[in-house]
Amino acid sequence: MKRIVIFASGSGSNAENIITYFQNKGNAEVVQVLTNNPQATVLDRCKRLKVSAFSFNRTAFYTKDHVLSHTQQLNPDLIVLAGFLWKIPENFVHAFPNKIINIHPALLPKYGGKGMYGQHVHEAVVNNKETETGITIHFVNERYDEGNIIFQVSCEVNPYDSAEDVASKIHELEMIHFPNVIESILTSNG
Ligand code: GAR
Repeated sequence: MKRIVIFASGSGSNAENIITYFQNKGNAEVVQVLTNNPQATVLDRCKRLKVSAFSFNRTAFYTKDHVLSHTQQLNPDLIVLAGFLWKIPENFVHAFPNKIINIHPALLPKYGGKGMYGQHVHEAVVNNKETETGITIHFVNERYDEGNIIFQVSCEVNPYDSAEDVASKIHELEMIHFPNVIESILTSNG
């Protein structure tokens, strides 16, 4: 059974979708969800879905090795950032080469980098009158949103779409594709 560890900061709709996908499939499991936000809704989802959860603070993540050694003990085959908003520290990236992936709600390299998350991305896409946007799933390196791209899929942005309309199109793409991409990475890693 492959072991998935998820990092999430907020609502956790992607985390829930990944958890239930693999609960139904049975070839992998989400062994724990880690969050930097003790108020995050993702924690309620974990309780309901009976998945272990763990919260941590900035010191444990950036100045001590607590979160790193905790994660190493979980022995993950894949670490999935699903709406996780803190930058992954270098020691983490080096400890898990090609084992950390992130989902970004735009077609990177467009609309990536610090401060570009969630609704901010969709507002920028609408303000710039883009005609398409999409999702990117990529490996995580030391720089925000710059690791090698694994998967992208696009959707149309119509002239009358609001940022909320774009958000719901992106949400739909994330729900459809993210678990499948995770599954194919786990399968191709043997
Ligand atoms: C998702 O749309 C994800 O792509 C985005 O945050 C949302 C989290 O939603 N991630 C980023 O913007 C990362 N830069 P969720 O908490 O409901 O899964």
